[in-house]
Amino acid sequence: MSALFTPFTLKDVALRNRIAVPPMCQYSATDGFVSDWHLAHYTGLARGGAGLVIVEASGVSPDGRISPDCLGLWSDDHIAGLAQIATAIKAAGAVPGIQIAHAGRKANANRPWDGDDHIAPEDPRYWETISPSAIAFGGVLPRVPREMTLADIARVQGDFAAAARRAQAAGFEWLELHFAHGYLAQSFFSRHANQRTDAYGGDATGRGRFMLETLAAVRAVWPENLPLTARFGVVEYDGHDEETLAQAIDLSAKMRDGGLDFLSVSMGFSTVEAKVPWGPAFFAPVVGRVRSALAMPVGSAWCIDAPQDAERAVANGQMDVVMMGRALLANPHYPYELAIALGEEKPASLLPNPYGYWLQRYRGAGKGAAQ
Ligand SMILES: Cc1cc2nc3c(=O)[nH]c(=O)nc-3n(C[C@H](O)[C@H](O)[C@H](O)COP(=O)(O)O)c2cc1C
Repeated sequence: MSALFTPFTLKDVALRNRIAVPPMCQYSATDGFVSDWHLAHYTGLARGGAGLVIVEASGVSPDGRISPDCLGLWSDDHIAGLAQIATAIKAAGAVPGIQIAHAGRKANANRPWDGDDHIAPEDPRYWETISPSAIAFGGVLPRVPREMTLADIARVQGDFAAAARRAQAAGFEWLELHFAHGYLAQSFFSRHANQRTDAYGGDATGRGRFMLETLAAVRAVWPENLPLTARFGVVEYDGHDEETLAQAIDLSAKMRDGGLDFLSVSMGFSTVEAKVPWGPAFFAPVVGRVRSALAMPVGSAWCIDAPQDAERAVANGQMDVVMMGRALLANPHYPYELAIALGEEKPASLLPNPYGYWLQRYRGAGKGAAQ
């Protein structure tokens, strides 16, 4: 059996293999509610054979959404729609996960295909954005956010805990806190966004406080037997990467000791000046360094598309779970094809019987054999 197709168990949750669908915004919600599109999309992805399907960044509050079209978990009314998705993912044999998020200074943007830019103040869809400091991200997101008060910080942390409770009520078994990609929590950690002089800024301890407290608030309500995970940007590719990585590993170790079960290692995306060295599996060596420093299970994404790259990432001990995003948008049944490429014995057993039976039975046979 290949390393990629070895089952992975974390707490009471067992993944059938090491392939995960990372959270990917669909920008297809109204008022945070699940639509027909979401149900079809996530059902299709789960059918394709991945071990874990993580539902896209879902706002812990209306102002925490990236766009007005993002999913939300700020109200009990959102639970029923998300429960349908969790049930469908589980019925297809995958573990249902969800990412909860506050977008901070990157919130209130148009959908990517409508410009990805901040919504104008005169637009009825406008809302105020908040961040640790009144510093704009830049580029197409030039709006200067309001600096958060201590009351804002406490409110958002409470929103994360309430959203976690709703995620559990909806039937999700894997919770991911969005502490990455230049959104609110990452902004607290990043010197590019955080110039505070109080207990939530300054040195690495101050800049890590928001994440640690938020984790503790969620840990208090999320069941002990289910994985509590976070996605965290450990480098910015801004020329200060060794220092940032060392501080990120230190903070991740504190999160591990505070009850984090798994880290999804990612990039910071806190500055428009970043020079990311894009290429096949380019990020896997960084992930491997984090995993060996922390001695805790990790996963990651970013351009791990080829079967041998995915296999190597697990076999070499760089990560426990491989997240495959765009490859699965291109082909939701890609896990089945990976299983063939890696010589798994019964690749079609990953698929539901109405597909898998035929593909297994007539594998390699001519077209007429299925008639
Ligand atoms: C359409 C789309 C939406 C995304 N939305 C999210 C998101 O909600 N949360 C998140 O952490 N990352 C998000 N990402 C990043 C992906 O999770 C993933 O890290 C990225 O696509 C790189 O992996 P890949 O090279 O396998 O595609 C998104 C990516 C895409 C393509």
